[in-house]
Amino acid sequence: MLVLGIESSCDETGAAIVKGDGTVLSDIVQSQVDLHARYGGVVPELASRDHARNIDPVAREALARAGVGLDDIDGIAVTNRPGLVGALLVGVQFAKGMAWARGLPIVGVDHLVGHLLAIFLRRPGEEPAPRPAFPFVALLASGGHTALYYVEGPTADACRELGGTRDDAAGEAFDKVAKLLGLGYPGGPVIDRLAAKGDATRFPQKAPMASVRSLEFSFSGIKSRMARYVAERGRPKDEAEVADLCASFQRAVTDVLANKLVQAAQANHVSHVVLGGGVAANRELRARVKSLANARGIESFVPPLASCTDNAAMIAYAGAARLDRGERDGWDLSATSQTSLLRLTRKGRGAR
Ligand code: KG4
Ligand code: ZN
Repeated sequence: MLVLGIESSCDETGAAIVKGDGTVLSDIVQSQVDLHARYGGVVPELASRDHARNIDPVAREALARAGVGLDDIDGIAVTNRPGLVGALLVGVQFAKGMAWARGLPIVGVDHLVGHLLAIFLRRPGEEPAPRPAFPFVALLASGGHTALYYVEGPTADACRELGGTRDDAAGEAFDKVAKLLGLGYPGGPVIDRLAAKGDATRFPQKAPMASVRSLEFSFSGIKSRMARYVAERGRPKDEAEVADLCASFQRAVTDVLANKLVQAAQANHVSHVVLGGGVAANRELRARVKSLANARGIESFVPPLASCTDNAAMIAYAGAARLDRGERDGWDLSATSQTSLLRLTRKGRGAR
């Protein structure tokens, strides 16, 4: 099965051609980072307009790079939740138009399910790494979401949230702290780079809830502490001080994320853990998860960087799982929900 995936939920316009087994034939991502950088965050109206400009050329390029035409495609998968509604609408309307014109089946994909399954993608030139067996426990940490999931299969109804953030997402905290320190947007990659040169013990801190046994997170307190530091002393000009602040902040965030992921796996008697979402690109987090899991006899699965941040290949793969089950959305498919299906199914499923 060959699936065309479309992603436009936030600030990346993506299109990809992926086989049902996860082999990526093409994965085009047109980032809007430069467009939003001067505002220190994503401006929804600008995002929608840029998606509308780019979706057609991005999809054409995905087909060209994969060396296929629309006649070779068996189905279309498009992110239809959660995200910026105006941005989602562009991808959904485009995908629906193409499906209608070609008589192709179409399915909507929950963006979070895409992130949870990104570990199954096989990109060209990559060693075919081992894949996690179901069930596994996954940490999804991105700019909009941070939560732990128990994943029993490749569809939304097989994913259950075990605990999430009570306030900011981890990526949001990276972005806000970078903004406070005048480091630009997005904050994650620049803090990651500066932290590598810094001393994480100079401003030691703990993320709130780090020592609580619950699987919930909170990142707004650590961001506020940083804001107070900057308000009291002004923005640090000394390079070493900035690097030490970044390293200390990053240590606190990655510590709590890695600890709770492994804790969740143990509590659920699961021996495989998976990382997903943009923050999974963080080098310290990747290393912490590997070493902590290893020490507990748990196998960890960390996707390559291109599969961590937003991309359409993960959407195509998650869509292939739905199409494979015979699911179709047709013209009812809407893009008006900012709530993930995983969030909606959280309650009433009982604790495991
Ligand atoms: O998954 P993603 O591309 O988009 C959302 O769905 O939100 O995640 C973007 C987030 C941003 O907050 C960005 O700062 C963060 O991922 N990020 C990182 C790194 N690379 C991207 N955070 C920490 N370290 C990184 N290396
Ligand atoms: Zn995302």
